[in-house]
Amino acid sequence: MKFSNSFLFGAATAAYQIEGAIDKDGKGPSNWDEFVKIPGKTFENTTGELAVDHYHRYKEDIRLMAEMGLESYRFSIAWPRIIPNGTGEVNQKGIDFYNSIIDECLSYGIVPFVTLYHWDLPLELEKQGGWTNKATIDAFVHYAKVCFEAFGDRVKHFITFNETVVFCGHGYLAGAHPPGIKDEPKLYFQATHNVFSAHAKAVLAYKELKQYGDIGLSHVFSPAFSVDDNVENKWAERHANQFGINWYYDPILKGNYPDYVLKILEDRGWMPEILEEERLALTQAAPLNDFIGLNYYQPVRVERILGQAEHVEHSRENATGAPGNPSFDGEYRSVSMKDKRYTKWGWEISPEGFVDGLRLLKDYYGDVTMYITENGLGDEDPIIEGEVCDIPRINFINDHLVAVKKAIDEGVNIQGYYAWSAIDLLSWLNGYKKQYGFIYVDHQHNLDRKKKASFHWYKSIIESRGETLNYPT
Ligand code: BG6
Repeated sequence: MKFSNSFLFGAATAAYQIEGAIDKDGKGPSNWDEFVKIPGKTFENTTGELAVDHYHRYKEDIRLMAEMGLESYRFSIAWPRIIPNGTGEVNQKGIDFYNSIIDECLSYGIVPFVTLYHWDLPLELEKQGGWTNKATIDAFVHYAKVCFEAFGDRVKHFITFNETVVFCGHGYLAGAHPPGIKDEPKLYFQATHNVFSAHAKAVLAYKELKQYGDIGLSHVFSPAFSVDDNVENKWAERHANQFGINWYYDPILKGNYPDYVLKILEDRGWMPEILEEERLALTQAAPLNDFIGLNYYQPVRVERILGQAEHVEHSRENATGAPGNPSFDGEYRSVSMKDKRYTKWGWEISPEGFVDGLRLLKDYYGDVTMYITENGLGDEDPIIEGEVCDIPRINFINDHLVAVKKAIDEGVNIQGYYAWSAIDLLSWLNGYKKQYGFIYVDHQHNLDRKKKASFHWYKSIIESRGETLNYPT
């Protein structure tokens, strides 16, 4: 029942959600710094101005991670800290900050796993069209190279992008992330294609540098399953997976797009502009991509919409991941089911769906190296006599690690697991109320850190290499 010695037990965070210090030491403004100023865009209008002040407390936080026995820490670099306006001068203080984080990790033997883009785009680039502007591709590749050159001697795992579907979908369809645009499928597909091109070009640049590390990207992995065997709903399942899985993985792993989706984009006038040199970059980069990261929280249960799709007014509330929305193209809707379990935020809890999804992915793409780069339970943790008793989180992570082990035993090539999150942090749309961490942050008392029950539990799981997980009998 043990995980192999090379399997990495880790946990993850993202810069905007923990650092704070949004204008310190030369950092430029990001699209998020601006977006959160619009009333109602975030829960209780929370901002990342202070977050959990990791910028000043990173030593304490990494010391706690080391005490927990973390083997690897996934964190992101804030692009506007490195290149404040997106394209110009490099900010040495930004480089220094991440050097300190990396060195601190390494001093404890923690493997740094670095995400280059976890949604905070330099504001200047957003103003010029963000990911719909092809100039952002070049800007990203330049930024990526700066990071490879500054950190690549010690960082051997780079993730280019985190969850393209989320920042592009929320950015251009739901209006819930910057730039806050609604119902613009053409822009959405253009943005996703530009991101894939930026990924491909960054992979090529990375391999050219011969730093002998691994590079890949992370997607949110929400496999779609039909609510029943009805032929229409089964159609919805395939359709949803073509748009939600194949559109996102094919260009990275195969270097081209799924014909099924291309045909629909053509018919509906949503085809993005794809330059020949971008096509070439995608083809050349695909075999050089070392892994894919999967952020798994929940599957999506789908049912075909027959007739006119109902109109749902976009809002922060219906963009927070709970089922109940029609798909952007009006072909199906996501639904909650009576026989499933859900979190307080309406996300389905389904380790079974995880295993089924991983099997599906193996069928589609064969023996691809994967890391689970996020997985965790968002909850309002109970505090009993001063102790954070996050037993539901322990159960959640236990069951999902058991699912990972099962998939590995079936031949899925998974090399590591990163719980979301290492420490309580700012949820983009749910503020501080929704907690994910092993480490509690006391917002009433000076942001004091405190170990949760799950902290001790995860430590014991890492120590036993998973042998002490609660496996079903
Ligand atoms: C992932 C993101 O989509 O989900 C994280 O990569 C995010 O940044 C996590 O925090 C959980 O989402 P939420 O909305 O529950 O905070």
